[in-house]
Amino acid sequence: MLKTEGVEKRFGGLVAVKDVSITVNKGEIFGLIGPNGAGKTTFLNCISGFYKPEKGRITFKEQDITGLSPTQLCHKGIARTFQIARSFPKLSALDNVKVSVIYGGKQHQNPERRAKEIMDFVGFPVATNIIAENLNTMQLKRLELARALATNSELLLLDEVAAGLTPSELPTFIELIKKIRDSGVTIICIEHVMKFIMGVCDRIAVLNFGAKIADGTVEEIKNDPKVTEAYLGEENVH
Ligand SMILES: Nc1ncnc2c1ncn2[C@@H]1O[C@H](COP(=O)(O)OP(=O)(O)O)[C@@H](O)[C@H]1O
Ligand SMILES: [Mg+2]
Repeated sequence: MLKTEGVEKRFGGLVAVKDVSITVNKGEIFGLIGPNGAGKTTFLNCISGFYKPEKGRITFKEQDITGLSPTQLCHKGIARTFQIARSFPKLSALDNVKVSVIYGGKQHQNPERRAKEIMDFVGFPVATNIIAENLNTMQLKRLELARALATNSELLLLDEVAAGLTPSELPTFIELIKKIRDSGVTIICIEHVMKFIMGVCDRIAVLNFGAKIADGTVEEIKNDPKVTEAYLGEENVH
């Protein structure tokens, strides 16, 4: 579904992402982990077109997409959420999703009905006419997911989407992410919450100082000494 080969992104003298190659299969939930500053967000930004990598190649469904803009990628079926939710605060929740339906690249006869269907799918729990700035964390996260899905995405990029949720909210959220995957959407997620990563990901890649130090299944990663070492002083991976 998605392949990166030798992707590199620099900020001045700093190599934020160094020679990173990953392959993500259709229908997978693929996790990106690593200590703070490891380059996870920058790497995701290269995939979503917010940054143009200096080196390397990115292919999506066997098509070279390196250097395309976020809008072009959105129309090809790649959507993302942000580490800090970026809805339109003064618009209603429904209008937020409608904007994505209308500008997502595919024509819908009834954008409002389509928006409501998606909000229903993500289990949006309150009246859809609530103004976005009045939503709580869990509601905002559902809204972010609804907006990303509303663009008919086949590949969803999630940056720390579980951050800020309480432990009691986490299981429901994990179920939602799996439900999205089961509906045919491939997912790449960055996450600090280990319970989320371990509970949801089919495979994981670990970044450290911009470079990929390991990839594999949850079990393989848990038992990899390079990974444990990278996390010393950080939160324990187990
Ligand atoms: N826009 C930017 N300009 C300069 N340096 C940046 C920028 N974005 C990130 N960096 C640096 O690149 C490195 C990787 O950052 P980031 O991708 O945000 O890491 P992570 O998401 O893994 O915490 C860090 O050293 C960070 O300070
Ligand atoms: Mg980050």
